[in-house]
Amino acid sequence: MCGITAFTGKDAALPILLSGLEKLEYRGYDSAGITLVDDKGLFTKKAKGRLKDLEDMLDVPSFHQTTGIGHTRWATHGVPSQLNSHPHTNAANTISIVHNGIIENYEGIKANLKAKGYEFQSETDSEVIVHLLDYYYDGNMLEAMKKTVNQLEGSFAICVLSTDEPDTVYVAKTASPMVLGKSENGTFAASDIPAILEYTKDVLILEDGQMAKLTPNEISVYTFHCEPVEAKWTHIPYDIEAAQKGGYDTFMLKEIYEQPEAIRETLRGRIEKGEIHLEDLEKLDFTKINRVYFVACGTAWHAGIYANTLFQKWIDVPSICVAASEFRYSDPHVDDKTLCVYISQSGETADTLAALKMSKEKGAQTISIVNVLGSSIARASDVTLYTCAGPEIAVASTKAFTTQLALVTLLILKIAELRGTDVACKAELLEGLKQMPEVVSAMLDKHELMKEYAGFLKNQQDAYFIGRQLDYVSVLEGALKLKEVSYVHADAYFAGELKHGAIALIEKDTVVIAMATQPEVAAKTISNIEETMARGANVILITTKDQPAPKFKYVIRIPDVHPLLAVIPVTILLQLFAYYAAVEKGRDVDKPRNLAKSVTVE
Ligand code: G6P
Repeated sequence: MCGITAFTGKDAALPILLSGLEKLEYRGYDSAGITLVDDKGLFTKKAKGRLKDLEDMLDVPSFHQTTGIGHTRWATHGVPSQLNSHPHTNAANTISIVHNGIIENYEGIKANLKAKGYEFQSETDSEVIVHLLDYYYDGNMLEAMKKTVNQLEGSFAICVLSTDEPDTVYVAKTASPMVLGKSENGTFAASDIPAILEYTKDVLILEDGQMAKLTPNEISVYTFHCEPVEAKWTHIPYDIEAAQKGGYDTFMLKEIYEQPEAIRETLRGRIEKGEIHLEDLEKLDFTKINRVYFVACGTAWHAGIYANTLFQKWIDVPSICVAASEFRYSDPHVDDKTLCVYISQSGETADTLAALKMSKEKGAQTISIVNVLGSSIARASDVTLYTCAGPEIAVASTKAFTTQLALVTLLILKIAELRGTDVACKAELLEGLKQMPEVVSAMLDKHELMKEYAGFLKNQQDAYFIGRQLDYVSVLEGALKLKEVSYVHADAYFAGELKHGAIALIEKDTVVIAMATQPEVAAKTISNIEETMARGANVILITTKDQPAPKFKYVIRIPDVHPLLAVIPVTILLQLFAYYAAVEKGRDVDKPRNLAKSVTVE
């Protein structure tokens, strides 16, 4: 997810652009750049890597220009490189742009522009924007913007500078975020409110199909047809932390609600025309592997169990999922024919990192699935695939987990493809993943119901989560989430194992949360649950749309999804359940006792 900042005003622009980009680092990026403008012309600097790399190339205090644009790029079209970084400028170096989003029809536009003699420096879709502006510009930038944006398909938030108006920034947006701000010292644009909150609390959230002209004292908003629009300003009454909470009571609730977008971002650019695109995988040789380990801790370990289940279903190579803290000391058989896949939100978990280093020393090929860009695990792996969940602040992992599930599904399908293994349901799964943001939203709509069911725990010390096969992943995660945030003791059981022990604990009003979404075992799970009901348990059943469950009072039905993907919607319900149980018990939801977000000790 790219990040954008822009400023024009009385102060030096560069520090404002850089501090804004820093606040947007959570969006993820692989390169950064800025353009400053004054009556001497445009000054552009870009760097592959971190913002710090860009800053190191600039003697910040020596730049006095008061107008500029900045960008952090998350590569979609074209590898991370200096050439592909933004800003992009026209050949005459008189117009500069930054862009967030994807221009879906860029190939056609590029071909037309090339035919007119335009030369392209980068592989990006974004570069067409600056050449289109150049082509249409005849002294009126707003007109050129109008002609340009009306030709673009896809998603975009754009900021534009021109040497003809060195104290003006033009912006436009559709389907990518853009916030504008105004203070006594100037006007601002950015991808998100925290990037400008240090300077102003008066913000204008640009709507799809709107453009704006920013001068040091004024912001004028227009439609894409240059008709003036009355700007709707909002005063943000809270500070940066609260702004980061976005109006939610807690980070955990905010992050639960961010899941449709987090999954969408994680899939962005990775499924196109029925094909899976995962960066850098071709670096590895999947044909030679004869053993696979999935290694992780906590919630990420549950994503590993899910990944391993899919792997075993489709690929004829022995594989296992191991908790990182166990893997290190279990003398695992690792050599150059081994593939090790590490999953971690933070990318810093000590046990996972140590396991990764050990497997590298033994010659394994390594892949990591990580959320935090540039983290230790990301840097140490042969190939890193990022979940694009954005920053996860609450200790209990939510959006990182569901994005891990989405991404490992793509990864295992891709490994199968690279090994020449046909997965019959591939197209259905890819379609199912694309629909997942809507499915997740439908689950979030059930929050009142989950709140009511969480109330069943009011006077209870224990809860039992049960399910079979892939439902067991949801069972593990649901029980962990409940323990972490509500401190209610929760156990996870295979439904068929209940009768071998745990059923002895079931008595009147014991809370049992049962999952039955896997068609080949759902009926069996349901009969296991009935055994607990016969002993007085208060059962909440999560099942599919058509599964008969006549004896159950509390039933939640998930929408039609492929059974292999059911764990995602089920998890959303269980996150809400744990959240409301914790709120009901007055717990510190974001910072549960004794737990840390990033466990950098063994
Ligand atoms: C801690 C966190 C968990 C997380 C686990 C693994 O225990 O509290 O939420 O699942 O670490 O963290 P990682 O960053 O490696 O996913």
